[in-house]
Amino acid sequence: MTIPSTAGERLREVARLYVRQQRAFGPSRSRCDVLNEILRHGALSQRQLAQQLGLDKGWVSRAVEALVRDGSIDKAPDAHDRRSVVLRLSDTGLRRAQTLNAQLNRHAEQLLASIPEPRHARLHAALGDLLQALLELQPDNKATPRPVLRMALATDWPPIERLLLECGLPVAGAHEHIDTFAVAEMDGQIVASAGLEFHDDVALLRSVATGQAWRRQGLAEALLREQMRRARARSAKTLYLLTTTAEAFFLHHGFAPCERTGAPAALERSAEFRGACPASALLMQYTLETE
Ligand SMILES: CC(C)(COP(=O)(O)OP(=O)(O)OC[C@H]1O[C@@H](n2cnc3c(N)ncnc32)[C@H](O)[C@@H]1OP(=O)(O)O)[C@@H](O)C(=O)NCCC(=O)NCCS
Repeated sequence: MTIPSTAGERLREVARLYVRQQRAFGPSRSRCDVLNEILRHGALSQRQLAQQLGLDKGWVSRAVEALVRDGSIDKAPDAHDRRSVVLRLSDTGLRRAQTLNAQLNRHAEQLLASIPEPRHARLHAALGDLLQALLELQPDNKATPRPVLRMALATDWPPIERLLLECGLPVAGAHEHIDTFAVAEMDGQIVASAGLEFHDDVALLRSVATGQAWRRQGLAEALLREQMRRARARSAKTLYLLTTTAEAFFLHHGFAPCERTGAPAALERSAEFRGACPASALLMQYTLETE
């Protein structure tokens, strides 16, 4: 074939042929990518893996299942989230990933060795420029910083109250429990919250809210996990909550609806049970496994 004239066409052709030649070393490109990504991170959930690879969850799931079946990946329950599993390389998987990496490195070295030595310095600089440009285009490497998750301070109450009101949630009784609230902060603004109330050994989750502009980015889920961890650390066995608006979100995260009449008496001390939440609010519960 003739060498394309524009830099863009050359780049596409380089990428196409390079990936095609690399495929010769592995049974399937997707499985190689999965092995390499787990090798790089040590352990990953399936969701994190799909995010890292920028690939469809279903596609990643099929590749993972094939690697579990051939003994390359071990799946273990996530100690912090009983609905999630952590993926690690087995001894076999580790050996396969290392062999694969050695083959890919050899292929790169052979390719570079076939280019005359005097051109290497220019090539090296051009590859560095390309790598830099690609890294800057990576969604998770963009200059956009992510909100920071932290426990709330007493001074956070006014913005938390504003957020709860904007999200249509009750504020009564929340201020008393500010020291067990977790928040997400971005540029000095509170953009998401999740509160926890302890009544004896009973834990009540409340005030789970994410500002409109920040929804569907995993903030509520991250705060929820943090609060589950804290509730476990305080030896709570069950996490309760009342909701009128977010049953689907909590079902998605493993909570189950339960009878309000069966709620522990200690919860009657919460303002949410004393009227801040409407009587029609649904009671849901989540069993916290012991660690
Ligand atoms: C419910 C709420 C807190 C979710 O916040 P969020 O930061 O957008 O949620 P996340 O991005 O962490 O969502 C994580 C997961 O839950 C799912 N999810 C998010 N909102 C959902 C909803 N309303 N119903 C079902 N699933 C939902 C997402 O799809 C995502 O799953 P995925 O990664 O598998 O796609 C937010 O919509 C909100 O503030 N609602 C108004 C206040 C409210 O009703 N709070 C609950 C009262 S206690």
